[in-house]
Amino acid sequence: MLFWVVTALALGAYFFVYSTYVRRKAFRGTVKLHGKTVIVTGSNTGIGKATALDLAKRGARVILACRSKQRAEAALQEIRRESGNNEVIFMQLDLGSLKSIRSFAENFLKSEPRLDLLINNAALGAPGRTEDGLGMILGVNHIGPFLLTNLLLDRLKECAPSRVVNVASYMHEFGEIDFNCINRHKCLGLGTSTLDITKIYSHSKLCNVLFTHELAQRLKGTNVTCYSLHPGSVATELDRNSKDSWYVFIFRPIFRNMFMTDPMSGAQTTLYCALQEGIEPLSGRYFSNCTLTEVKQKAKDDIVARKLWEVSERLCGMA
Ligand SMILES: NC(=O)c1ccc[n+]([C@@H]2O[C@H](COP(=O)([O-])OP(=O)(O)OC[C@H]3O[C@@H](n4cnc5c(N)ncnc54)[C@H](OP(=O)(O)O)[C@@H]3O)[C@@H](O)[C@H]2O)c1
Ligand SMILES: *[C@@H]1O[C@H](CO)[C@@H](O)[C@H](O)[C@H]1NC(C)=O
Ligand SMILES: *[C@@H]1O[C@H](CO)[C@@H](O)[C@H](O)[C@H]1NC(C)=O
Repeated sequence: MLFWVVTALALGAYFFVYSTYVRRKAFRGTVKLHGKTVIVTGSNTGIGKATALDLAKRGARVILACRSKQRAEAALQEIRRESGNNEVIFMQLDLGSLKSIRSFAENFLKSEPRLDLLINNAALGAPGRTEDGLGMILGVNHIGPFLLTNLLLDRLKECAPSRVVNVASYMHEFGEIDFNCINRHKCLGLGTSTLDITKIYSHSKLCNVLFTHELAQRLKGTNVTCYSLHPGSVATELDRNSKDSWYVFIFRPIFRNMFMTDPMSGAQTTLYCALQEGIEPLSGRYFSNCTLTEVKQKAKDDIVARKLWEVSERLCGMA
């Protein structure tokens, strides 16, 4: 008897938690994108691939901006097959290389007349340095998309109304920007343990939110708007670098199956920010669960956001 009561309570609690904290709203817009060109970075897997598939189904010309040709090629075939859209194209982009970002932009601007949507989705949580000597997470998650966006801004302006969507994370709430560390070590934090990497990743996601805030200021009057967002807790390859056995064998399997959603559901807020009509006055803001969400002061601080912009310009050789 007691067993059944406990089981029923546990199930009830789980369904409550699932429906309140895990399940997420779907984007219901029916917008078609024929004649529009979109770039999705990191679209060979996870949330980026799901986003690219949805945009392809809507008729867009979709550029898969990925670092591995082989991994992207597999996703490309799958997206073409599932969407019936053959205008899905791979272009090589390694966000851990300023040279690769510049040559991607050059290629793109030469071969593609339009850009309607830039979706900065790629990110990682891994130790090490980029080929330019930046901390890996700072380079790939913030400086890379920062430079890429700047190199493509004129084309976005020519094609306005157009949008930039930056996939951040609720983890930005735990982030901080240590300008001393950036200036001295070209990274957002030191250390390589799982905890260190998680912290540095949070810092980089705060950079995404602040970058979006400052970008919106700079884009006023251009009809190019930008948004940052949290996709939800999504079962993807994002944690592939974690080798701790307690995580891999115990925490991850339980967490993935019970408290995470699939990549397509994780793509919904990205799609909302990219396609929802009428949100232009909310440029620079942060969304979660397809809903405008207020951020803490540290994630919308004008002075910090401007300073981060200036430091970023220096780090990628723009200034
Ligand atoms: N999953 C979640 O629960 C969650 C929660 C909050 C926020 N997010 C955010 O959602 C976004 C997508 O993550 P995900 O969960 O879909 O992760 P994922 O499955 O690991 O996909 C990340 C993508 O980024 C690409 N990437 C990594 N480093 C790159 C580089 N140097 N140059 C170009 N592309 C690179 C990866 O390419 P390779 O396959 O070649 O490595 C992959 O395509 C990220 O911005 C992440 O911070 C995810
Ligand atoms: C997302 O919104 C839906 C509908 O409003 C709600 O039922 C769900 O609990 C929300 N999910 C999260 C994680 O906030
Ligand atoms: C922005 O869009 C509005 C409304 O469509 C238009 O009137 C205005 O000229 C546009 N501005 C620019 C800079 O393109």
